[in-house]
Amino acid sequence: MFVLSESNSIANHFLAELRDKDIQKDAFRFRKNLERLGELFAYEISKTLTYRNNSVESPLGKKDVSLLGDYPVLVTIMRAGLPLHQGLLNFFDKSENGFIGAYRGLHDTKDHFEIEMDYISSPSIQGKTLIICDPMLATGKSIEKAYHAMLRYGIPSRTHIVSVVASQRGIRFINARMPECRIWVGDIDDELNSKSYIVPGLGDAGDLAFGPKN
Ligand code: URA
Repeated sequence: MFVLSESNSIANHFLAELRDKDIQKDAFRFRKNLERLGELFAYEISKTLTYRNNSVESPLGKKDVSLLGDYPVLVTIMRAGLPLHQGLLNFFDKSENGFIGAYRGLHDTKDHFEIEMDYISSPSIQGKTLIICDPMLATGKSIEKAYHAMLRYGIPSRTHIVSVVASQRGIRFINARMPECRIWVGDIDDELNSKSYIVPGLGDAGDLAFGPKN
């Protein structure tokens, strides 16, 4: 597992701003910080991908370079995942993309809710690297459901799960249920509240990025 906040970097500023209830009033900045983190995750994940030798010609000569062999397929859970997805796509600019519409069904307690999924579109992921992003890894249930739904588009060679804030419980869940996936997170918080929101977390990522739902 990779945790951005474990080392001192500018990423910690983006994470702090995302959590800050005053700065959150600026939805543009909130989306931008998610996007910037998507770019940083893309950079970190790019170090684990395969490259092939190539050469480029500048106006003054030839240079051997090492270029990405295959671009990962980027998949996000709407709507909260869209800015993070855009950040990944800014760097993996030749990637194919998939989208999943998923939301929490009605629930009474933190242990009783189902994830409803009503939309999915994806290219084939057979033999490709897959990146699934969702800004909040709370219980892990939506990522698990999204991952299994994606498997109808093929078996990926490698799957990366990207989240901005994760809970300890969500990490344990993903590690237990999807041990073949590698997890990349911005930061990890200890608790979930009675509505399965991460505490302190940052609140409702979708509402903060795009406005409240009815
Ligand atoms: N989704 C959110 O937007 N926030 C959480 O804390 C958990 C799930």
